[in-house]
Amino acid sequence: MNAPPISLAQAVGRKPLEIRDIVARLDYDPDFNWAWENYKRTIVEIAQQRGLTRHLEIGGGRDPLFLPPEVAAHGFEVTLNDISAHELSRAPQGYSTVQCDIAGKDAKAILGAGRYDIAYSRMVMEHVPDVARMWENIAYALAPGGVAFSFFPTLYAPPYVLNRLIPEKISRWMLETVFPDRKEDGDNPKFPAYYDYCFSEEAKIVPMLKRAGFSDVVALPFWGYSYFWKFPGVKQIDAAFTRIARERQWRAVSSFAYIIATK
Ligand SMILES: C[S@@+](CC[C@H](N)C(=O)[O-])C[C@H]1O[C@@H](n2cnc3c(N)ncnc32)[C@H](O)[C@@H]1O
Repeated sequence: MNAPPISLAQAVGRKPLEIRDIVARLDYDPDFNWAWENYKRTIVEIAQQRGLTRHLEIGGGRDPLFLPPEVAAHGFEVTLNDISAHELSRAPQGYSTVQCDIAGKDAKAILGAGRYDIAYSRMVMEHVPDVARMWENIAYALAPGGVAFSFFPTLYAPPYVLNRLIPEKISRWMLETVFPDRKEDGDNPKFPAYYDYCFSEEAKIVPMLKRAGFSDVVALPFWGYSYFWKFPGVKQIDAAFTRIARERQWRAVSSFAYIIATK
């Protein structure tokens, strides 16, 4: 059973662990499967270690990270955000919801100042055209000591470079042909992607995060994906390249990243 969360006051009383110390305990592995399998666990660990109970899931839409029984078991209060009323309407019952564009000019007024202790998103940032404004809005909505966490695909992994270069209509058709569940009315529809600031290289993102109001930033890169697994030949060449990139820690061609930033 998970340990009950400590309150923010308790956490402050005994000085909360730094994010990098929490992450160091997680047995980070740069393979992309680790990122997918450990996203939830990483958030639980950060929330519990730092006593972060008021959660904002950004772009949580139809598929929130924590289901209502888990929210109750952890003692969290989760608010679901999405730009789309349709996506929010497909989420299970039992959450507070806040519909807005996380990068919108009105997001600060809608979210409220210092209203949340932790804000996280998975596969949302690549769909936001103005990511600097997104982080500013998140910093505004977080309480002092709050944590923002984004898990997103990164440039210049070849599938995302292709997705960015190819017109939306064509890339949509290609994806839906290979992966039928990615159709608009399917369980995992495709949303337009811009990849603004979608990098795992700290030099490219930390200055923007500092300007947005964050003090400490951890960026974890990951390599690998399954997009080419249905294409013999391409699959093997791509896997060999990915292996070399991972071994040599070439962040310029990573596939995913976690960015964890403290206000
Ligand atoms: C690819 S889905 C990911 C859904 C969920 N986070 C997951 O991991 O399964 C992207 C979600 O982000 C939402 N979204 C896209 N742009 C957004 C924005 N600017 N503000 C808030 N939500 C947004 C979409 O409506 C959609 O629900």
